[in-house]
Amino acid sequence: MAKKHTTRSTKDAANERKAAQYADQSVMTGAGGEVHQSAGGDAPDLTTQQGIPVADDQNSLRIGARGPTALEDFHFREKLFHFDHERIPERVVHARGFGVRGYFENYESLADITKADLFQRAGEKTPVFVRFSTVAGNKGSADLARDVRGFAVKLYTKEGNWDIVGNNIPVFFIQDAIKFPDLVHAVKQEPDRGFPQAQTAHDNFWDFISLTPESMHMVMWIMSDRTIPRSFRFMDGFGVHTFRFVNAEGKSTFVKFHWKPKLGLQSVVWNEAVKINGADPDFHRRDLWNAIQMGDYPEWELGLQLFDEEFAERFAFDVLDATKIIPEEEVPIRRVGRLVLDRCVDNFFAETEQVAFGTLNIVPGIDFSDDPLLQGRNFSYLDTQLKRLGSPNFTHIPVNAPKCPVHHFQQDGHMAMHNPTGRANYEPNSWDEGAGGPRESPAKGFHSYPAAVEGPKLRIRSESFADHYSQARQFYISQTESEQQHIADALTFELSKVERLAIRTRMVAHLLNIDRGLAEHVAHGLRLKEMPGPADAARPTQEHLQKSPALSIQLNGPASFKGRKVGALVTDGVDSTTFQALRTALEKEGALLEIIAPHVGGVEASDGSWIEAAQQLRGGPSVLYDAVALLPSEDGIEILMQEPTARDFVADAFAHCKFIGYVEAALPLFAKAGVPDHGDDGCIALEGPEDCAAFVATCRQLRFWAREAGVRHMAQQGS
Ligand code: HEM
Repeated sequence: MAKKHTTRSTKDAANERKAAQYADQSVMTGAGGEVHQSAGGDAPDLTTQQGIPVADDQNSLRIGARGPTALEDFHFREKLFHFDHERIPERVVHARGFGVRGYFENYESLADITKADLFQRAGEKTPVFVRFSTVAGNKGSADLARDVRGFAVKLYTKEGNWDIVGNNIPVFFIQDAIKFPDLVHAVKQEPDRGFPQAQTAHDNFWDFISLTPESMHMVMWIMSDRTIPRSFRFMDGFGVHTFRFVNAEGKSTFVKFHWKPKLGLQSVVWNEAVKINGADPDFHRRDLWNAIQMGDYPEWELGLQLFDEEFAERFAFDVLDATKIIPEEEVPIRRVGRLVLDRCVDNFFAETEQVAFGTLNIVPGIDFSDDPLLQGRNFSYLDTQLKRLGSPNFTHIPVNAPKCPVHHFQQDGHMAMHNPTGRANYEPNSWDEGAGGPRESPAKGFHSYPAAVEGPKLRIRSESFADHYSQARQFYISQTESEQQHIADALTFELSKVERLAIRTRMVAHLLNIDRGLAEHVAHGLRLKEMPGPADAARPTQEHLQKSPALSIQLNGPASFKGRKVGALVTDGVDSTTFQALRTALEKEGALLEIIAPHVGGVEASDGSWIEAAQQLRGGPSVLYDAVALLPSEDGIEILMQEPTARDFVADAFAHCKFIGYVEAALPLFAKAGVPDHGDDGCIALEGPEDCAAFVATCRQLRFWAREAGVRHMAQQGS
């Protein structure tokens, strides 16, 4: 026994290598059969962080082949030391995000309203870094949580970095930043149990909200389809707060920032979102990654709502209140430039994780308003970034570094990368010109707008912030019937997860101040035994506010299927003419075709050609597509009929109101999926190539909402 383990000649065995073949890979193996790959050709020498070349990266240094590891193995120690410290704290909010690069292009000079350098010249391009995120979930949570999406844009202007740290919703939960820690504690995991994460459907969240009536407008937005976007590419962005533009003469104009997606808005339905989270938790980041890799660069237009003090005075709400919008119908949006996202990051950690946005990062020509939420944010971001990035020098990290000259006397600290040279590290100083370092710049430098402010020092919420329900109502009545139904369903779902009846009832009391029909709908959905009275309102709801059609997603469809994806379910024998016609029609529209087949290797089409699949049936459920095409052959349908996932593919596509293109051979699947005979007007027979073009044209409506009521009825009947 002892003999078996005695090292042959340990020295020789350590250096011995044998050739081995693993399919396409020719490798060398060591004494224990482990794979060794050596430097040479394009592969540089592997080194330690200190630059010492490494001879063996598969085995730690040990005393004898089966002996203990030696402490002097500096390579092993350095490797583990670095690995052990790979994680940095995740963001307290917006932990899960996806960053990409691009540019902002200015359409026209805005010199009359702002002296901000990036807006001075038509056609000026400013590099940007954008990070999209969810708010509540941890870094590893799924993309399709019902949640607000962060839309943070860092513009590297020639006069410093300007960050528009926005969301895809134009209002916020709270009016004063002092409530932010409470809001975030309430929405995140409950502290005793550590769950649920990435969802608002729990007692603590709704307990806090039901005692925070200023949140009611935001509640309407988060319960709407806005919080389950189909993709980052199909959602709005908003700077939320009122900011100021200041021109060269020192004149100020109030401004609200909007990002409008050129591809139009689109969301998924809740049942779909739940299933996407299982099928592809990275659905949103994959979508953006793929679009950019394919050269299909998403674009947004920067919209400005500009108004003066006089409008602010007469507007029905306080423009400093972040729980209010200014309807587009009242102050139209002026589109002044485009944001193009055309490059994925080279390294996720270096850029997406280390990027540090802050509302405090503004440039000359832009200024804050006195919005108390904005004022608090200006403190919070810088403060949290010191903790998260571990050093006051995080502006030295390339993604955070301005792309214009930077000169100051700030020095030292952890990880200082750019250190001042010379003797002067203070000012004023009397060192000779040049050696004295940078000086103030009264002409170019940032001057705060000299807004007149005076008053007693108080802890008080302005009475002008006290109307909590009017705009919540305005949002609700501006939605289509189907969108209103989604809001009622979302409230019913979320509040049904709330264990305490008192909290559910309290929320219904608030809904009564928004819309009685909505309150009754939810109360019925919750099966409340008694309808509460309306919550006492600080200000009565202004019921005369007009609908704002701009607030509806469905009323503002893109009328195009560009950037969307059809999932085609195929089998051996798929009709090659129909398949090619569909592919051509989608290409013409700027949309994509993805093939789902019984095997990922692909299928043989009717003309003998081979079609490779992107997904095996079980990995390509219809929730991953905007519309589907069922293209089995007569023989192939037999295989699909044996597959429960094929049935789900059709049943889900139908239930989620998707357009379904089908060939005659697919009809048995309809029956199996509980779809009525030949479907409905959203199901389009693909009998010839010309039908494929018509199918794609129909898909421009994105969803066949007319089906929704019927599907609901079928579900209620249990059919
Ligand atoms: C209008 C309301 C708000 C919007 C639109 C908003 C938006 C955002 C966005 C987009 C991010 C993610 C930035 C990134 O991608 O790295 C973020 C992070 C953060 N926000 Fe806000 N936020 C709002 C309110 C607040 C308030 C009131 C506070 C605190 C008083 C706050 C504190 C933070 C903090 C601490 C982070 C993490 C930053 C980091 O670790 O780098 N936010 N916010």
